[in-house]
Amino acid sequence: MSIVFLNGEYLPIEEAKVSVLDRGFLFGDGVYEVIPCYGGHLFRMPQHFVRLQRSLDAIRLHSPLSNDDIAEALMTLVNKNPQHGDNQALYLQITRGPDQNGRNHGFPETINPTFYAHTKALPPYNYEEARRGKSAITLPDIRRKDCYIKAISLLPNILLHQQAHDAGSEEAILLRDGYVTEATTSNVFIVKDEHIYTPPASPYILGGITRDLVIELANNYQIPLSEQPIDETMLRTADHLWITSCSRHIHPIVQLDNKQVGNGTAGILWETMIKLFDDYIATERSDQDE
Ligand SMILES: Cc1ncc(COP(=O)(O)O)c(C=O)c1O
Repeated sequence: MSIVFLNGEYLPIEEAKVSVLDRGFLFGDGVYEVIPCYGGHLFRMPQHFVRLQRSLDAIRLHSPLSNDDIAEALMTLVNKNPQHGDNQALYLQITRGPDQNGRNHGFPETINPTFYAHTKALPPYNYEEARRGKSAITLPDIRRKDCYIKAISLLPNILLHQQAHDAGSEEAILLRDGYVTEATTSNVFIVKDEHIYTPPASPYILGGITRDLVIELANNYQIPLSEQPIDETMLRTADHLWITSCSRHIHPIVQLDNKQVGNGTAGILWETMIKLFDDYIATERSDQDE
């Protein structure tokens, strides 16, 4: 049975209850994070805290827990859920909490944010499967203009993701005004002539922890990478296409809108980057052990 964390308590999931007046339930008024834990070590936790704070500031909400308390709660959850194995994906969300006066758009006068977290197994990265690549479709980015907030109100993402799924694809690559923003649950990179490109940070994309690490690794190892707008022509003539997220790491997309991407392979730069990515995880783990 899974143990979850709700407002300071560790509870069996069946016993964790939230008020129907919670603004997360009524308005989607809250933010979240997803943090991998590899062998008992939280992945890029300082970076996750920076993004969480950015999201909280954007919706004018204070976390009821300090960062140290959050890290401790997450590690306790990992230890209380050994059935999920060595590698886990932790989910946390903070909502503006219940408003005892009912459903009102304005913020309640007394705010008791709801802090909830759970964990699940993170399956090991499957290199062979990743190397074979997946398919994606393009769709118009119908989301709001504040996609940098990791908000729990994900209706457009869910609808777009389902559309991709219904088309037999892994992801939808989103286009806004003719330019790639990101995908519904991941960031986007292309490779052209051994050079990596990704759309620049902007309010239109979520600052992915994986995206930032790919950029950092490319810079550290002198692999050419530019953060620059990617128009539809660049996307459709790319040699390689990747999506990135904490659960997928760097995943090649070899078919876009039913057409092969480049020569249809993951590509040598993917082999290089995924190795650097893996080495980074191993080093971060051993650094934390010291
Ligand atoms: C819309 C969106 N973009 C990008 C990402 C990738 O972020 P990260 O690398 O932190 O998992 C996610 C992950 O959930 C996402 O939902």
